[in-house]
Amino acid sequence: MNARKALDLDWVRRQFPALATDEVFFDNAGGSQVYAGVADRIRDYLLTTPVQLGASYARSEEATAKVLAARRAVAAFINAPHDEAVVMGGSTTSLLFQFASALRSTIQPGDEVIVTDTDHEANVGCWKRLAEAGAVLKTWRVNRDTLELELGDLDALLTSRTRWVAMTQASNVLGTVNDVRAVADRVHAAGARLAVDAVAYAPHRLPDVAASGADVYVFSFYKVFGPHYAVMAVERGLLLSLPGINHFFIGPDDMPYKLQPGNVNFELSHGAAGIPEYLDAVAAHHGAGGMPRERWQAAYALFAAQEDALSARLLEYLRSKRGLRIIGRDRVARSDRVSTIAFVKPGTASESLVRHVDRARIGIRFGDFYASHLIDALDLRDLGGVVRVSMLHYNTLDELDRLIVALEGVL
Ligand SMILES: Cc1ncc(COP(=O)(O)O)c(C=O)c1O
Repeated sequence: MNARKALDLDWVRRQFPALATDEVFFDNAGGSQVYAGVADRIRDYLLTTPVQLGASYARSEEATAKVLAARRAVAAFINAPHDEAVVMGGSTTSLLFQFASALRSTIQPGDEVIVTDTDHEANVGCWKRLAEAGAVLKTWRVNRDTLELELGDLDALLTSRTRWVAMTQASNVLGTVNDVRAVADRVHAAGARLAVDAVAYAPHRLPDVAASGADVYVFSFYKVFGPHYAVMAVERGLLLSLPGINHFFIGPDDMPYKLQPGNVNFELSHGAAGIPEYLDAVAAHHGAGGMPRERWQAAYALFAAQEDALSARLLEYLRSKRGLRIIGRDRVARSDRVSTIAFVKPGTASESLVRHVDRARIGIRFGDFYASHLIDALDLRDLGGVVRVSMLHYNTLDELDRLIVALEGVL
């Protein structure tokens, strides 16, 4: 079979039962719809293996095998070199808090930590708390004119005291994809480590821990067709060296349990392993073969093509509106922006635009999206933040045209 070049959207949408409605979901950066196979796996786990792990009776062994297999599947999906260094937990926010609290006793007064002002607070606040242990916090500020994080500005912040840099792989407001590999190389050359928030990236591009160069790489499955649950890959040597935050009798070699107090959620772990299965199903349906990562890459390439078509049309429409300000790159010329598009209409509260669109049964959203420092840096607080339209591959151009008709009434 020849590989198909364009997504079969009717087939794709049938994989997401919640899309069988006339309501349009353009709040995908808030949370995606859930792949039916993920929900089936959660149900299967709960109804067949609801027992405690680690016992010697048959059903417990079966449950243990399912949860371990899920971790291996997730590690493969994100290309984490060691599945025992893959930590799972309730959310990106909670995993980063867990990580930072493990790190705290390793911080010496004067150690420097760099955060950005474009990040979601999940990858800022936990680092700022290290100041209580004597860390000195610095901020890598967005260029207010270009809306980019400039590498030269990072270079000016890195010193021999820098221990950590925390940044996002894609901004949940700007939609910009950052070259985290280039940052990792600089950070490592300075003798420091890099933590990457991939929450706004993973729904649009295949996550790849090894290629990113990150020492910590984290994102949430509920943005990537899965359940409210998250994963954090930690560089193995680092995880081994960190003090644990679990019970005193959980040893330092007990990875990843040392960072998973209360253990993982069994059914959600099993469910999350359905995400790469979705990618496999997409690849198979469109005639793409090869090794697992080649198939998943093929699925994401199909996603990106559909998302680029949506972004190009929306950005073209927004550019045609005089006075409107697109908050982020205003074209999809390179594949360095995802289909999360923010804008403001100076003089008009962002909320009023969104409330108008609500009436057309189209879900978009306004606010700071917890990227609070970015909204302040760009002086957008008075407007109530930005209007954000966040699209995923299962959205159609017809849906987008409905949005444009609704926006026409107010822009
Ligand atoms: C870029 C980004 N990082 C982190 C988070 C926080 O994720 P969680 O809700 O899993 O804590 C979000 C949530 O919207 C986000 O968009």
